[in-house]
Order: sequence, then C-alpha cells, then structure tokens
Amino acid sequence: MSAGDVVGIVANGALPYEFDAITREAVPVGDYVVVRTADGSEVLGMVEGTTINSEIMEVARNFSDASEAGELALRNPRDKSYSSHVRVLGLLDGLRSGEVRMPSLPPVPGSTMRRATPEELSAAFGGPDRRWFPIGSLLRSPSVRVHVDVNRVASRHLAILASTGAGKSNMLALIAKAIAGLRGTMVIFDYHGEYAGLDLGGRGRPVMPVVNPRHLDPDELADLLEIREGAGKQRHVLEEALSGARDARDFWGSLREGVEGQEDDREYREPARRVADIIESALRRFGSVLDPDSPPPLRLLAEGYVNVVNLSELSPRQADVVISRYMEEVLADRKRSRSGEPGVLRKPVVLALEEAHVFIPGGREDRTKTRETAARIAREGRKFGVSLVIVSQRPQRLDQDVLSQMGSLAVGRLLNQRDRSFVQDSSEFLTEEMTGYLPDLNPGEAILVGQWVKLPAMVKVDRVEEKLVGMDVDAVGEWSSWGGPSEDTDEFIRR
Ligand SMILES: Nc1ncnc2c1ncn2[C@@H]1O[C@H](COP(=O)(O)OP(=O)(O)OP(=O)(O)O)[C@@H](O)[C@H]1O
Ligand SMILES: [Mg+2]
Repeated sequence: MSAGDVVGIVANGALPYEFDAITREAVPVGDYVVVRTADGSEVLGMVEGTTINSEIMEVARNFSDASEAGELALRNPRDKSYSSHVRVLGLLDGLRSGEVRMPSLPPVPGSTMRRATPEELSAAFGGPDRRWFPIGSLLRSPSVRVHVDVNRVASRHLAILASTGAGKSNMLALIAKAIAGLRGTMVIFDYHGEYAGLDLGGRGRPVMPVVNPRHLDPDELADLLEIREGAGKQRHVLEEALSGARDARDFWGSLREGVEGQEDDREYREPARRVADIIESALRRFGSVLDPDSPPPLRLLAEGYVNVVNLSELSPRQADVVISRYMEEVLADRKRSRSGEPGVLRKPVVLALEEAHVFIPGGREDRTKTRETAARIAREGRKFGVSLVIVSQRPQRLDQDVLSQMGSLAVGRLLNQRDRSFVQDSSEFLTEEMTGYLPDLNPGEAILVGQWVKLPAMVKVDRVEEKLVGMDVDAVGEWSSWGGPSEDTDEFIRR
C-alpha cells in the first residue's frame, strides 16, 4: 500500500467487528475501507459515522471567542482532526467468493486503513447467479452494481420503508420486474392504481378485486357494504338474510327479500329498511366488486405472473376485506400444495402490500382482517413459500411483530424521528449510526440491510422509467403549457 492510498490510521480500542480511525480528511458515511487484522488478513468495513473536530474551538465559550477561533482554525491546517467509526463487514477473501465470514481478531491500533477498490466492491456486491438481481449502484462508488438475492425476498419477507416520495413504489416496481423476469408469481395489492402501466415483459396481469359475497362471513359482507361497525341491529339483519341467500340462484334478490322480510318485526323495521338502502347504494357504487357468480380469488390469480390487484376504487375497509381474502386463500392453497394435495399455486408466491400501515396497523384497537392474516404469513409463510413485501411511509404505525419478522429491509429517507426509532427497535439489522443517517438520504437512495444483501449497502436505486404514476405533478408546467381557458370570468358569467 502506498502512502497515497492511506486514508486513516486505526485508533485505540479496536474490536473485531468495529473500530474508530483517525483519518487524513473527512471520509463520507457509506464509504468502504480495508484494514488488516492482527493476523494479517484483510477485512472490509463501512464508514458509519464521521466527525470533524477543531482544537481551537474547544476553548471558545462565547460568540467573539468562537468567531476568532474559527478564523484561526481556518489558517491552521493542524487544528482539525477527523475521525470515523467503521463497522467491519467481513473478511475480504471470503466476500470475493460470496461468503460472509467475520474476523476473530481486531485490526492493530496504528495500522493503516485504505479505501476499498471498485474491483473488490464489485466482487463483494456482485451476483454470481440468477437469483441475484441488480437493484442499483453503490452511492459512494457508482461504478459498483449492487445485487439483491430474490430467493430471500421470496422466503424471508421484506419491508420497504421511507417517507412519502422517497422512492418506495419505484423499488417495488423493480422487484416486480425481477420476479416477472424469473417467471415467478407475485400479487401486488395496488391501492393507488399505479402498477398498471409497468412493463413486465408480458408477464403482468391486471386483476379486478372481485369478491364473491356468498363466500364472505356476515361481518366481511357488512364491512364491504360499509355498514358501521357499531350498527349491531343492521348487522344482525344482514346476517339473517345472508344465511338464506348464500345458496340461492338469485343471490341479491334473495338477500333483499331476506332483509325486507324482517321489516315485519317492529324491533328490526328501521334497521332492515336502512340495510335495504345500503345494499342498493353499495350495488350502484361497486357492484362490480361483489359478484355472486365470480370464482374464488385463487382462480383469478395466474401462476408465473405478476398479478396486480387494483384496489384504487375501494375504501380502506373494503380493501381490507379483499386483501385478507386473497392472502388467506393464497396461504391455504400453498399449505395444500406443500402437503402434496393438488393446489392452484404450485410454486412460491410473493405478496406485496402498499400502504401497509393502514392494513397491518399496530394499535390495539385497529384490528384489521389483513393484520391477522399478514401476521400469520410473517410467522409461518416461509415454510410454505409465501412471503410478504410490506411498503410503508409511516413505519411507527405498523404492527411491530410483523415488522420484526421481516428478514430484509430497504430504508430510504425517513424524516420523522419516531419512525426511525421504531424501525431500529424492530429490526436487528439497522445500527444506530445507519439510522441516524436516514434523514440525509435523497429520493431514490436507500440503505439495504438483512438477508437479501451480502453486506449492508447504501444504494442509489435504479429508476424505473415507465413508472410515471406517483411522480410529483408539475402543476406550473401543466398550467402554462395549456395557457388556461380562452374566456375570462366576465365572459364566462355572461354566457
Ligand atoms: N431510484 C430513483 N431514481 C430517480 N428517481 C426516483 C427514484 N425512485 C423514485 N424516484 C422519483 O421519485 C418520485 C417518487 O417516487 P415513488 O413514487 O417511488 O415514491 P414513494 O416513496 O412510493 O412515494 P409515496 O409515499 O407517495 O407512495 C417519482 O417522481 C420517481 O420518479
Ligand atoms: Mg408509493
């Protein structure tokens, strides 16, 4: 190593898995460095934190002191000291061959630290076979491509967390493309209708969120019809009517009759009338979602495709019923397939959920149906080849049990302090230093940790060009290119 390559010197107190270094200049967070341990083997480390100190500023106690000290400090190059905290990621030799092995000895204080070369990093972040998918480039070394292990996404769950507009849906779109390219099966619960235009190379399939009311339990049907949770009598009326209508040829006709029949009972007259109105209005608004002749959800999903379930017309409560139905049926079917019975889905399935904090909330009183199912999949889905990808901009509202089961994380810019602490508390992979860096990330940048990456990485994620929905609207551009209506207000009113 020539003196020019040396960026720092290992400080006292080094441990096998982390150490501090006194550096020549400030080394950016996310940079990769190499040191030798006490037995001479090289290890790769990532800079997690960097500080700059001024000796003269130590003594400044008021503004005048500080301003004079600042000028003096600027003129004196020896005044500044730079130090970095480095996390050891593994032995360089092992990483070259795709294996993460930790050293058993720390580096010797006083020994030199150099920057890792792009070749070393490409070997460490590269993808030796098909299951490794390129997702972006290292933020601090753009020539190095970072690959993620799709096998781990499909077996150990993934959470994509970042403030709004930070690039979550873009990343999910990339993952969908990877799975489509591998002829894998994925279901995206698309709450904002933004994945329809994705180019999935012919392996994307739009799915209308159709549910067969005959197969719903009374509470689920009441939720879908938007009967209030506290309206006990209305729910009772519906339950009675549903039991008679389930197997009727004309489901809606029979349900109506069942409801109207209860108007004779004085106690239920008003609730029955109300339910009749609710059914009429619900059918007008989203009759297409409730189809008594539709096949069960499993028949609507296609194996080997990315199935995009468009939920954009539904209220959160309605979407909750649809999502939990689909998830439950997928899990049950995969259990059947695994135990040798004939199932519809013979291969592993990835279920991706946008706005996960709405459907898998952590609050005690927010018991959604999807939360129960998702918790089960998070716990046992791995055994049956069902995995979850949860996407959220409000991680602190997520169910902590579910979040802690996520084997991999992509965390982008997170501005809210409570969101950051919640994520760090719920995950074994994010260190305090990494969490502290989250507000400084730009849109499209993310920290990838957990089982889907060989090493923690700060990444500039590739942009999916055709994914236009979700982009910020250029209001000023659109208004000015239009030029506005040709008539002014006075003309408009006269007309
Ligand atoms: N990796 C990237 N590189 C460049 N631009 C990106 C990248 N990721 C996202 N963007 C841009 O940032 C904007 C927001 O992206 P995206 O819709 O993925 O964010 P989001 O986190 O899903 O937002 P929301 O919380 O509103 O759903 C888009 O205009 C998108 O084009
Ligand atoms: Mg989004």
